[in-house]
Amino acid sequence: MTLFTDSTSQATPMLTILELLPETALAAMPTRAVTQVSTLLLTATIALLPATPALADKPAVARGEKVVEEWCRDCHVREGQKLTPDMAPPYSVIVAIDGRDRAWFEAFLKADHFPMTTFRLFDHEKADVVEWLMDLQRREK
Ligand code: HEC
Repeated sequence: MTLFTDSTSQATPMLTILELLPETALAAMPTRAVTQVSTLLLTATIALLPATPALADKPAVARGEKVVEEWCRDCHVREGQKLTPDMAPPYSVIVAIDGRDRAWFEAFLKADHFPMTTFRLFDHEKADVVEWLMDLQRREK
């Protein structure tokens, strides 16, 4: 009998602390901040949705696109953008050239790319860029 009473009287305050913890943590955060964080997360999710349906099941293609965005967009205009003399053709034009197949792009990425002779991608990045180019070629057909 004594044992039973002791264990319940000890268990109750323990439980109360555990139950209160998340509430206290949330209460410490201003409500506006919580709303802003969830709005941000929601916006990010929505922003990503339309851009990626074709890429969702192809991680290599998505990684290749990231590499292109980071290293190649200083020169290569986006599809539909005006090509000026100081810029390079869009990839939609490049993948439509006769003979531009997987082997050609692999060889191209192994060599120095004039005028961008100093760019050095890792081999796995080159492989991802090739996957992205192949995906673009399929979509352009
Ligand atoms: C400093 C500018 C510059 C950067 C950066 C650049 N390119 Fe280019 N690229 C060009 C120019 C200019 C051409 C067209 C003339 C040529 O073929 O050399 C070109 C052409 C190409 C071609 C087509 C070649 C052909 O004959 O079909 C491919 C493929 C290509 N670039 C891939 C890339 C990739 C991938 C990256 C990023 C890793 C990249 N480029 C970054 C300037 C650039």
